[in-house]
Amino acid sequence: MTDAVIEDGGRVLRLQGKRFHAIWLLDNAQDGVTRDPGNGQRLITMADLPADPRLTEAGLTDGTLTVSIDGRALEFDRDWLVARAYDPCPALTLPAHATPWDATLTDIPTGNMAALQAGGDALRDWLSGVRQYGFARVTGMAAEPGGLFDIVALFGFVRETNYGRHFEVRTEVNPTNLAFTGLGLQAHTDNPYRDPVPTLQVLSCLENSAEGGENMVVDGFSAALRLRAENPEGFDLLARYSARFEYAGEAGVRLQSRRPMIELSPEGTLIGVRFNSRSIAPLTDVPFAHMAGYYAAYRQLSDIIDDTAQEVTFKLSPGEAFIVDNTRVLHARKGYSGEGSRWLQGCYADKDGLLSTLAALEAGA
Ligand code: FE2
Repeated sequence: MTDAVIEDGGRVLRLQGKRFHAIWLLDNAQDGVTRDPGNGQRLITMADLPADPRLTEAGLTDGTLTVSIDGRALEFDRDWLVARAYDPCPALTLPAHATPWDATLTDIPTGNMAALQAGGDALRDWLSGVRQYGFARVTGMAAEPGGLFDIVALFGFVRETNYGRHFEVRTEVNPTNLAFTGLGLQAHTDNPYRDPVPTLQVLSCLENSAEGGENMVVDGFSAALRLRAENPEGFDLLARYSARFEYAGEAGVRLQSRRPMIELSPEGTLIGVRFNSRSIAPLTDVPFAHMAGYYAAYRQLSDIIDDTAQEVTFKLSPGEAFIVDNTRVLHARKGYSGEGSRWLQGCYADKDGLLSTLAALEAGA
């Protein structure tokens, strides 16, 4: 690979991994046509620059970049250019205490139920793990219905919805009937059609004797950061325009929301991800001129989420559970088959109570 490469039909120069537009190079030329050799002042206005200049030649020799733009030969000092690179754009901030992760994460925050119920350091560390990674496991529970409420009681309150105070995730595995075998689901956040969205989900395991059926989680923050590094314009489209989500799967229910897939705070901090291919509704808030780019970015984010390099998998045994920050971490289950059964119970809760309990523990209150 050479150090100076012309891209995008001559509109862009890639110099040692940094991209510069031809118009930017022309505007910042250091030659005597552009700047007075004596006092260094600019001699040109925007009217002197072509609207769509193209690079035709580029070469790097001994630290000097030589280019030809619309037939004009120009030279740049490489180090001067690299010091002024605007690619990639400045780093994106994450919420305080959040650490992005991918498949290399091995230290999953895990708490034993009895220790968590005793409070103190064990509870503080487990809650802190949820804040840092957006998910955590619980072990040592009785494999009995309703145990998931004990987890919520550690820090807050159940968020009741039209699915009830809790919901059953239960499939009798029957290989003779594909309809009841457990197909895998793409990683998603739950209920993006609600506003506000449930900010926590708890899933506890009562039975899991089927083959497969592992749980899988993907860090939405990590996926969004990767999208931004690979396609900054696409990231901006997913953050700038609202998606639409809808659920109308039962009588008397028509839940609708209008929120972006990638949510930034007014200061530009990444604060939320909504991603659920099963409940996305027709997108009507993206301007026509940006729709193709929006779909390209949506597909790219989907591919990143599906990349096994992003996922952490684990299999729950009866008496185990996990909690996810539903504004950040996507979850899924792998397909399962064979003999046996899989029975999980799920419920929603909210992060304000969790962070409040954590803050009080950290303050020694
Ligand atoms: Fe889900």
